Amino acid sequence: MLRDMKVSVEAENLRKSYVTKERTGLIRGRKKVVEALRGVSFQIFRGEIFGLLGPNGAGKTTTIKILSTLLIPDEGDAWVEGHHVVKEAGRVRELIGVSLYSDRGFYWKLTGRENLLYFAHLYHLDPAWARDRVDELLALVGLEKDADRLVEEYSTGMKSKLNFARALLHDPPVIFLDEPTIGLDPNSARKIREVVLKLREEGKTVLLTTHNMWEADALSDHIAIINKGKVIAYGTPGELKAMVAEHTSIEIEAVGLDSGSVTEALRRLPGVLNVAARIRDPVAGRGEIRVVAEDEGVMPRLLEALVERRVKVTAIRTLEPTLEDVFVYLTGERLAGEEGEAGAAARS
Ligand SMILES: Nc1ncnc2c1ncn2[C@@H]1O[C@H](COP(=O)(O)OP(=O)(O)OP(=O)(O)O)[C@@H](O)[C@H]1O
Ligand SMILES: [Mg+2]
Repeated sequence: MLRDMKVSVEAENLRKSYVTKERTGLIRGRKKVVEALRGVSFQIFRGEIFGLLGPNGAGKTTTIKILSTLLIPDEGDAWVEGHHVVKEAGRVRELIGVSLYSDRGFYWKLTGRENLLYFAHLYHLDPAWARDRVDELLALVGLEKDADRLVEEYSTGMKSKLNFARALLHDPPVIFLDEPTIGLDPNSARKIREVVLKLREEGKTVLLTTHNMWEADALSDHIAIINKGKVIAYGTPGELKAMVAEHTSIEIEAVGLDSGSVTEALRRLPGVLNVAARIRDPVAGRGEIRVVAEDEGVMPRLLEALVERRVKVTAIRTLEPTLEDVFVYLTGERLAGEEGEAGAAARS
């Protein structure tokens, strides 16, 4: 049953906990429960690129695994093109293509082309159609030159592209991509982003997870920001940035930061809305503090507070608000990952 003609994918109050054994002693571990999803809901419209943006451990991969029938939720429901992911798992699998970041299930002693043909046979695709489809996909992801090399000779980027191509083999209308560009060189990452945009042109529905805010911003029609198993914000990139657009974002490079008392002190200053630090060198306490403030009037107070705490400021500047600021504003934490290079690559 299609609940809404325009909606392709829907998640409603998804909950999932993992139970693991904590190694406490030699003999047996205590049971440990990790609440990966704590009530995740969203809708993805047909034909759009939907970005699920969040830091490490937020629950992105868990969400994709539930939507692609690889994991059963403890609570909640989800539908793909109106089909329930648990009750109609077989039908859902026909409609989706999935590329999981951790998935390395290729045959190393086969070439890239042979691997794709092998999976095409597994999916019972017509052999003649499959040969054309494989050629088409190898060209699409930019692997034509390397198609007849053994996968064991493939770089990480080439394997990611092959993984991506495999997800598209049966030409599914709905595609789930888990961190499609993570660990890729800038050229490969750009290629993958181009393909994602091309899929949308073909009318596909694409869900992609990322912790790269530039990528989410550049590609997504709508973004859900996920943190600690909960969706904390949803909107178009513009709508999300509008949450902080009337405020001022300040980036401070500093030495002498600690794990929390400095940010805590800055957060209490009048005019400061939220603060988060990223420490790159824990020994020297070198890192960057991001401040979302009411306006630039807080600058002197910020500097004074830092000097008082013996933090040496090496640079301070105001910036155009980004999705990073939305995240800092809402959580007092930073999104993981290097925005510098990854950002430059995503924008190019
Ligand atoms: N198989 C598992 N067993 C136990 N805990 C798990 C398992 N898989 C994930 N978790 C935990 O569940 C939480 C959510 O993990 P998940 O992989 O969904 O996050 P993520 O957003 O994909 O993170 P990342 O950006 O690092 O890929 C994390 O705290 C993680 O440690
Ligand atoms: Mg993940």
